[in-house]
Amino acid sequence: MIDLRSDTVTVPTAAMRAAMAEAEVGDDVYAEDPTIAVLEGRVAGLLGHEAGLFCATGSLANVLGVAQHVRPGQEVLCDSGAHIARAEMGAHGALTGVTMRTWVSPDGRVDPACVEALLSPDAGPYLVSTACVEVENTHNFGGGTVQPLDALGAVSTLCRDAGVGLHLDGARLWNAQVATGIGLDTYGRLFDTVSVCFSKGLGAPVGSVLVGSAEQMASARILRKRLGGGWRQAGLLAAACLYALDHHVASLAEDHAAARAFTAELTASGIDVATPETNIVVVPTGALTSGEVVARASEGGVRLSAVGARLVRAVTHRDVSLDQCADAGRILAGILG
Ligand SMILES: Cc1ncc(COP(=O)(O)O)c(C=O)c1O
Repeated sequence: MIDLRSDTVTVPTAAMRAAMAEAEVGDDVYAEDPTIAVLEGRVAGLLGHEAGLFCATGSLANVLGVAQHVRPGQEVLCDSGAHIARAEMGAHGALTGVTMRTWVSPDGRVDPACVEALLSPDAGPYLVSTACVEVENTHNFGGGTVQPLDALGAVSTLCRDAGVGLHLDGARLWNAQVATGIGLDTYGRLFDTVSVCFSKGLGAPVGSVLVGSAEQMASARILRKRLGGGWRQAGLLAAACLYALDHHVASLAEDHAAARAFTAELTASGIDVATPETNIVVVPTGALTSGEVVARASEGGVRLSAVGARLVRAVTHRDVSLDQCADAGRILAGILG
């Protein structure tokens, strides 16, 4: 099987496991795990922020991040295809009382004019007040799209002028950095809080870090515990993330090349699909439903995800080769052709 359902399917290497085995650990609920402290400090520094908080998942880091800006009954604005809107099981509404309004954008790329049109920071006693804007970079369901820096800058200015918080879901910000060469801190400083994931293309088994001010991270730490996310000797996991930071970032470029090789097979067969900027390709399934395409691809030895009624997604990662991805592209082209 060539498993392209997600880059979350990557498994830790022997060297990563060795780094985990050697980690110094302590009880993190008492803030006594030295490896977690190193990871949190390092990620905060990389993103140009004061402090970090290690979390079990990207979803938890997003819930904690958005909650730093929004009180129950206020709203966060985001893209209609945002992970926080589509794929976090309604956590923001169910757990922290946040409401959401969304804009629609081609490929998930944020348009500052759409944000401006929705922003309603001081809506008074009749309408819901906007307390946060959320942007995803790269955009998962948009097809791994990289947000243009000028658009992010304009959104940042809009939010700061309006006194509204700005959260970045940077689960795959590493991919954006590798694709553009733009520094993590250049992206990070535009936002008030940022979440990044280590369990996607970076290949760690578990782990995300939320960054922001020291005050926000202290408050997020309390909410994390309230939600049952306080953990103890999790330095074992933080060690995997540190290993990934040192050894697995640059090779994301290979995942991007593999995604282009996959797509090239489709376009060579006349299938209209955009050249991917990073490691995610979304493919329209035409006359077939996405369920039919996923089932037929699986029979052919390729695992894909259905992300819409007639849309499938392939995600390249460090556990599949460029040749395997090209093969997968040929198999999918055969099904769609
Ligand atoms: C863009 C984005 N944000 C957040 C997440 C959530 O990560 P987790 O599965 O660790 O909760 C994902 C997961 O795939 C994602 O793609």
